[in-house]
Order: sequence, then C-alpha cells, then structure tokens
Amino acid sequence: MRLTSSLIAVATVSLTLLSYNNNTEAYGALAAGGLLSNVSTWADKVRPLSQYKWTSPLHFFNPPGDNPPEHCAAEYVYAGQDNVNALFNMTATLNRYQTNPPDTAEGKKIREEALKFFVHFMGDIHQPLHDSTPLRGGNDAPIKWGGRTNNLHSLWDTLMIVKDVNDRFDNNPQAYLDDTVNLAKTHWKDASTWTFCDHERNNATNPWSVDTNKIKTLCPIQWAVDANALDCIYVWKEYSATRDYSTDYFNQVTGSSSDFLVQRLLAISGVRMAAVLNEIYDPSAKAPLTKRGRARLPSKH
Ligand SMILES: *[C@@H]1O[C@H](CO)[C@@H](O)[C@H](O)[C@H]1NC(C)=O
Ligand SMILES: *[C@@H]1O[C@H](CO)[C@@H](O)[C@H](O)[C@H]1NC(C)=O
Ligand SMILES: *[C@@H]1O[C@H](CO)[C@@H](O)[C@H](O)[C@H]1NC(C)=O
Repeated sequence: MRLTSSLIAVATVSLTLLSYNNNTEAYGALAAGGLLSNVSTWADKVRPLSQYKWTSPLHFFNPPGDNPPEHCAAEYVYAGQDNVNALFNMTATLNRYQTNPPDTAEGKKIREEALKFFVHFMGDIHQPLHDSTPLRGGNDAPIKWGGRTNNLHSLWDTLMIVKDVNDRFDNNPQAYLDDTVNLAKTHWKDASTWTFCDHERNNATNPWSVDTNKIKTLCPIQWAVDANALDCIYVWKEYSATRDYSTDYFNQVTGSSSDFLVQRLLAISGVRMAAVLNEIYDPSAKAPLTKRGRARLPSKH
C-alpha cells in the first residue's frame, strides 16, 4: 500500500473499525480486502469527466464570510451543491437502497457510486481546507516546502502525511496507520465522543432529511463547522508564501504540541465513516470506539 493522500488513510482507518456482521452485497464488496481504500480516490479521478462535472462542487464547502485566521465562524447555509449536502445525499441514497435493494443495473450503479462518493467526501469534509473559502481552499496559496514551491491545500491533503510517514515511521504507511488507530484507542481521551451528533447543530433542512434523520451518527454540518475552526487556530495562522512549511509548522501540526492533529483528523474521519456505514449496514454494531463496540476499546461512555 502506498499512502499518497489523506483519503486513503481515512478509508483504511475506517476499514479496521467496520463491523462485518451483516454484510450486504455493496458493503461487503467494498470492505473486503482493502477495497474501501482502493475506491477512496475514485471521486477525484472522475471529477474531470463531463458526465461527472456536477460533482465538482461536492468536494468542498465554502463558508460565507470565512476569513481565516481572523475569523472562522462557519455558519451552514443551505446552498445546494456542496460537501455537506453531498454527504446527506449519498447517505440517503445508501440507506434507501439498503431498505429497498436496487433491481436494475442503473440502480446498482447509482448505489455503488454513492458509496464511492461517500467514502471520498467523508475524508474531504474533515480536511480543514475543504471547509475554507479564501484562495480556493488554499489551492491558490503558494508555500515553500523544502526548497520548492507548493500550495497550502496540497500540504494538508498530501505533503505532510507523506513526510510524517517517512520521518517517523520509516516510510511504512501501515505503521503510520497502526499508530493512528492506536492513538485513538489509547491516547485521545475524547475518542468515544467523536460519533456523537449534536442535533441542535445539525438541524438545517436538507432535501433528503426523511432518510438522513434516521442516521444518528451523520452530522456533516457540525463536522464542517468544527474543521473550519481549525483554519484559524492552525492552518492559516501566520500564512506566508515564503515560509518553509516543512519545519516548525510541520512539527507543530504533526507532533505532540497539537496532539498529533494531522493523524487525529484522519482518525476522527475514519471512525465517523465506520460509524455511519455500520449504522446503515449493521445496525446492531455499536459505534466504533465506544464501550462494547466491535473494535473493543477502553473508554468511558
Ligand atoms: C486495487 O485496485 C488495483 C487496480 O486499480 C488492483 O490491482 C488491486 O488489486 C486492488 N486492491 C485491492 C486490495 O483490491
Ligand atoms: C444526489 O445524488 C444523485 C446521485 O446519487 C444525483 O443524481 C443528484 O443530482 C444529487 N442531488 C444533488 C442535489 O446533488
Ligand atoms: C435548530 O437549532 C437551533 C439552535 O442551534 C434552534 O434555534 C432552532 O430552533 C432549531 N430548529 C429546529 C427546526 O429544531
């Protein structure tokens, strides 16, 4: 396995926490043998194709008035096509087809694609720069990385993870992922709360609420708002195009002074992805990282 993006990491963390009790065709096919991580980058691959143009805005959410690092107060305003709505839409589709399995090739294709989109968009929404408006989520914010020029968005999606795997884990992605899961089990004391949705913070109407209201662990509005807050605290702080992001900045957000923030975001999104999928496909499974969960872990809850 090569760990070339945060998405693959999220999907792989999630895979270790999924329940396998009651696999259906769709779920089983993706979960078996690492396929979940294999499909996690599919949504980026199809994005340039004309028949998938409509999915392009679903990879991010641009909070109106977002102005990091001075002002991060994302308030979710329903705007049709964005990362938050995509998660509502895809989850609703998966849940509907779980109740009424598709009986046409077209229906099966929609279900399969909804699952692939879901896996991808869960990773996206937990990346602070996918919830940040200026300079196209940092894509147009140049940085220095070692001697070279890169951009803030790639820094968070890819560069820091690859460097961390290399520097601290001897370029062994599996060791990095194992460490991430282990931190969730033993170090981050709030891990058992990650799958808790505050429904006060998630009550904006969406076109699929009849279905999405049934999924207790689905709260993309809260996830986006919380990720956006990190844009002010860490991501955009003291932004400068000439700063070398591979030194103190890298050490801070991957290291203990930020409580291993980069790994923590991967863990949180992986746990939440597993929770939602378990809720749809194996409702008897307890949420991951909570007491008596399948991934049996020490926690109070
Ligand atoms: C992932 O996909 C590649 C081709 O895209 C394939 O060769 C590989 O076997 C797949 N891995 C798993 C675990 O299914
Ligand atoms: C919801 O997803 C379906 C595909 O599953 C897509 O055809 C439809 O356009 C989406 N709706 C919105 C509003 O994004
Ligand atoms: C949604 O939550 C807000 C507080 O966050 C509250 O003021 C509002 O009444 C709630 N709306 C519904 C429909 O529950």
